[in-house]
Amino acid sequence: MKHNRSIWLVISMLVLASMLLSACGPSATPTATAALKVGVILPTKNEPRWIQDETRFKDAFTQAGYDVQILFSDGDSAKEKANVESLISQGVKVIIFTPQDGTAAAAAAQEARDAGVKVISYDRLIRDTAAVDYYVTFDSVAVGEAQGQYLVDKATGTGNPLYLYAGAATDNNAFLFFEGAWNVLQPKIADGTFVIKNSSEAVGLQDKATLTRDEMSQIIGQVTTDWKFDVAKNLAEANLTAAPAADKGDVFILAPNDGTARAIADSFAADGDVTSYVVTGQDAEEPSVQYIIDGKQSMTVLKDVRTLVSDAIAAAVAYLEGGTPEKTATYNNGAIDVPAKPSVVVTVDQSNVQAAVIDSGYWPAADFTGLDTLGAPTAAPAAACEGDYVLVPKNLGNPYFDTGNNGAQEAATELGITVLYQGSATADATEQITLLNSLIAQSPCGLAISANDADALVPTGQAAMEAGIPVVTWDSAIAPDGRNFHINQAVLQDIGAIQIKMASDLAGPDGGDIAILSATSTAPNQNAWIEVMKQELTKPEYANLKLVETVYGDDDDTKSYNEAQALFTKYPNLKVIIAPTTVGIAASARAVTDADLIGKVSVTGLGTPNQMREYVKNGAAPQFALWNPADLGYLAVYAMHALATGEIKGEAGETFTAGRLGEYTIQDDPDLGLNVLLGLPFIYNADNIDDFNW
Ligand code: BGC
Repeated sequence: MKHNRSIWLVISMLVLASMLLSACGPSATPTATAALKVGVILPTKNEPRWIQDETRFKDAFTQAGYDVQILFSDGDSAKEKANVESLISQGVKVIIFTPQDGTAAAAAAQEARDAGVKVISYDRLIRDTAAVDYYVTFDSVAVGEAQGQYLVDKATGTGNPLYLYAGAATDNNAFLFFEGAWNVLQPKIADGTFVIKNSSEAVGLQDKATLTRDEMSQIIGQVTTDWKFDVAKNLAEANLTAAPAADKGDVFILAPNDGTARAIADSFAADGDVTSYVVTGQDAEEPSVQYIIDGKQSMTVLKDVRTLVSDAIAAAVAYLEGGTPEKTATYNNGAIDVPAKPSVVVTVDQSNVQAAVIDSGYWPAADFTGLDTLGAPTAAPAAACEGDYVLVPKNLGNPYFDTGNNGAQEAATELGITVLYQGSATADATEQITLLNSLIAQSPCGLAISANDADALVPTGQAAMEAGIPVVTWDSAIAPDGRNFHINQAVLQDIGAIQIKMASDLAGPDGGDIAILSATSTAPNQNAWIEVMKQELTKPEYANLKLVETVYGDDDDTKSYNEAQALFTKYPNLKVIIAPTTVGIAASARAVTDADLIGKVSVTGLGTPNQMREYVKNGAAPQFALWNPADLGYLAVYAMHALATGEIKGEAGETFTAGRLGEYTIQDDPDLGLNVLLGLPFIYNADNIDDFNW
């Protein structure tokens, strides 16, 4: 289902682009003779991973009847450069480019730039050049974290032998994967759970929670596989030869990707002193999926190449149309911050391989043997309902909700269901009701709504439930009568209290004037938090804080910016702006920065790490709080799925399991009604902001 949808998206975008670009005027049926506009360059045919990308690109382009050339560089930067030059000479306008060696590719990217060709760095970042226009990628730090977490989850006791392996030092991703794995493994090395057996450099650095790129280089230099199976095999064998029997037994292996995982796993399996091994991977390559089914590889990280291909094509089409592709993050490539759109990744092992890889349509069951021998999957069974689920944000184009959708899509993949993401253009209750009415008419399997107005949406939510459609709310609740239950991101009291606490820290011991810059005046969640903030301010410890005014930026960047500026003028002694909204806090921090008021006026509230990073660093907003919206979207999908499949009815005391987040219980709260609580809010500051990328 998901597969078809993304293909149709691709087709419609390409049809649209070719209609716009066709020299002979609009035509609904583009032909294969359409001029070559886009070229794709992939690094090597020696790995199933890149053959996979080639196939998925061909599928997407062929179905659209659109011409594309896909060239392979055979692991050779010189050939890669010749490929770029060949595409330029054929008049392409966009090159989708996976570099063999990130830095060596800079010269070729510059040639493309000089020829007026847009360069989309695909999966691997081209480094140390400004000639990269866009980067489509998976969240590669999250890949490493998933690998590290898997090893941690499988380990018990202390002294577990750990063998580390990494990708090619010429590939920027190898650093991101290693960084992610280190984030998770290092605390467990420090506490004695694991003992590193094959890298003296890693042992020397094992007490450092965060490594510099140079430090990672030292370790990677010792444990690189260069992404090659034979290098991986030789290195594993050399490590096993050097290790005494006492360093073997039940071992844990960080293998960077599937190809190297199979080579390393085979070497460890052949060693008589190894009694068991847990080994990671990534890419969900077909041979590794078979290894997982057979119990020869423990896990892989599914990076849905269909998503990457469709994002790359969407970006190419945006450029061909004279536009700019959607940006949700930036990646520094050593020269510039490259606009990017990272996608989520999913951990796959025997317990969910059927749901995540087969039922999701990623690979056909017929390509594998032994699927029927696997135990019951831990993921919930496929929904009885055949249609789509819908996640509804307050508005589209808001990175906070987009992040929620990332989590929702992760859950959808795990559950083998389709979750559409549909919202109104502005955060407006009337528009949202119109949208919901049209969704209800299509009988979706479930609705997860972030409400623009608690009361106005009650009849709409009721209409959905009467039509048999489960309704959960996330982020911002519809009043209890209009939904089954609410997914509460954090306890109301905690969110209000933490913002006053942060404001008080920022105002300093003398206190002073503070103002609140909120979203819309009807936004139910902001209004509830503001009430708590006002109660908090009555406490003796906050007696020297004076709330001078609450203003509303309507979750509109310009209006919020202007409201912040108006506050500076009206209250010359203003010390802190609290903006309990991601749009308002970023706009306020920008206003403080532009007005040269850093140090005089501080901004705090609720924001997202990627939007706030520069303001945490420049001191305009030294600390802010939030939960993880991706987790919120993830939980919302599990919740509506549990309702839709009848696993729960939505009654107080019922429990359900939400994948990696674990078990939740529906609670009944006198104010909020039926709800489940995601967790505690988290404070972001200069010490931790770089640990996050969303
Ligand atoms: C990709 C991985 C791949 C590896 C080796 C990395 O840049 O992100 O998916 O396994 O290269 O080709």
